[in-house]
Amino acid sequence: MIYDRILITAEQLDAGIETLAQQIDSAHRQTEGLLALVLLEGARIFADRLLSRLSFPVETEYLKISSYRGGVKSTGQVELNLPAALCEKIQGRPVLIIDDIYDTGLTLYSLAEHLRQYKPGSVKTCVLLEKQVPHQKNIAIDFLGFSVEDVFVIGCGMDYQGQYRELPFVAALHPKQLG
Ligand code: IMP
Ligand code: MG
Repeated sequence: MIYDRILITAEQLDAGIETLAQQIDSAHRQTEGLLALVLLEGARIFADRLLSRLSFPVETEYLKISSYRGGVKSTGQVELNLPAALCEKIQGRPVLIIDDIYDTGLTLYSLAEHLRQYKPGSVKTCVLLEKQVPHQKNIAIDFLGFSVEDVFVIGCGMDYQGQYRELPFVAALHPKQLG
């Protein structure tokens, strides 16, 4: 068994993502030029599902940054290498960072801080899951899908060593998988 138990069913995910899309829609329907920054790889599936439900056009960029590196513990270090063209694009724009999980907070916090030098018009955050843990770095989440206990989760884009992203629900990885 790869997973222990299902924490969020496919139906709950669907409803939660729909609610988030409606919230973003209400908040940004009138906003010109929203730029979505999707954090790879974990947030790709979530972001696809979310953004396709919006009623207005969004420009989407994908960024590969994370404080994990295939394992189950944060490395505590976040690598940020934003392409120059993207940095230029950010100036004056309303930016929505989309990530899968708010865990230690290092990823979201470091990125939000890093973006400031490129003078975005505004920066908001949208996260599918918040882990109920004391975050090392606190950051306001403007659009939050679900809270989950402090277990390693897989599914809906979230992986363990590149596997299980395709699961249509969110589950706790079975402790045996961790060896
Ligand atoms: P943070 O910087 O610790 O908040 O980590 C956030 C990143 O770590 C997320 O964007 C995920 O990609 C990854 N991550 C954290 N917890 C999990 C998990 O339980 N399963 C899969 N990926 C995770
Ligand atoms: Mg990630």
